[in-house]
Amino acid sequence: MQRIRKAIFPVAGLGTRFLPATKAMPKEMLTVVDRPVIQHVVDEAKAAGIEQFIFVTGRNKGAIEDHFDIAFELDRTLKDRHREADLNELARDLPIAGSASFTRQQEPLGLGHAVWCARDLIGDEPFAVLLPDMLHQSSEPCLKSMIEAHSSIGGNMIGVYRVPDDETHRYGIVDVEQGSTKALPVKAMIEKPKQGTAPSNLAISGRYLLSPKIFELLATQPRGAGGEIQLTDAMVTLQRSEPFYAHVFEGRVHDTGTKLGFLTANVAYALDRHDLRDEFRAALKTMI
Ligand code: G1P
Repeated sequence: MQRIRKAIFPVAGLGTRFLPATKAMPKEMLTVVDRPVIQHVVDEAKAAGIEQFIFVTGRNKGAIEDHFDIAFELDRTLKDRHREADLNELARDLPIAGSASFTRQQEPLGLGHAVWCARDLIGDEPFAVLLPDMLHQSSEPCLKSMIEAHSSIGGNMIGVYRVPDDETHRYGIVDVEQGSTKALPVKAMIEKPKQGTAPSNLAISGRYLLSPKIFELLATQPRGAGGEIQLTDAMVTLQRSEPFYAHVFEGRVHDTGTKLGFLTANVAYALDRHDLRDEFRAALKTMI
């Protein structure tokens, strides 16, 4: 079994749902408490042992590259001011030199196309995909549990979580064989089923472990839901020749691509912080 070392972060989306905040700033740089959304997701990948971080970017995403680079003037100023704690924190978040790569998705053709754009950077080995919009909050990082399960059973694996029935049309939905293990064999997958037609309420949560065979399929994948090249559609084809498992995530998923999800993520992550928890809870109580 090949170890999963590389992860793709598709970050080319325009973030129109967050205008005007995202007019000049990538949506992935919006903060949940004091860390950009993309940093939270890179933290999850690091905790899972990922060594190569591949960002599929687009125009106006330069701030993401800068975020994962040394800010020389800032470091110098912090050093002069003896701000050791801040310096250490910045150093901890910095990827090792050469471990972050950036490639551009030139046209907004969908998630499947974004993943395909990273094919040469991945090469011929299984890899992870993490959708930065989706924050997975739990004591055990989601991707870490998935990689552990993958190291014993192999195949392809997708993170799933339960959503209310009236939200299934917003996600990729999977139908699984019931069982007692955390990795359930997938029976069917469908991208954004019409209201009332979903085979279950298990939604794809934006965490994937995929075999490199997916790239050949994505190369010729016709457009699907929303007129976009969908990753889920290529996975449906791959499932005919390779096993797929659904990893049911038991923590809390925040869809920060929606205003409500973004706001609740900020509340939930702030309540999780020792340095903020008590005062924040008290302040919230006075408001509601
Ligand atoms: C994508 C995937 C979908 C998944 C969702 C999670 O959709 O195609 O299967 O459930 O992310 O956020 P998008 O949100 O890009 O429309």
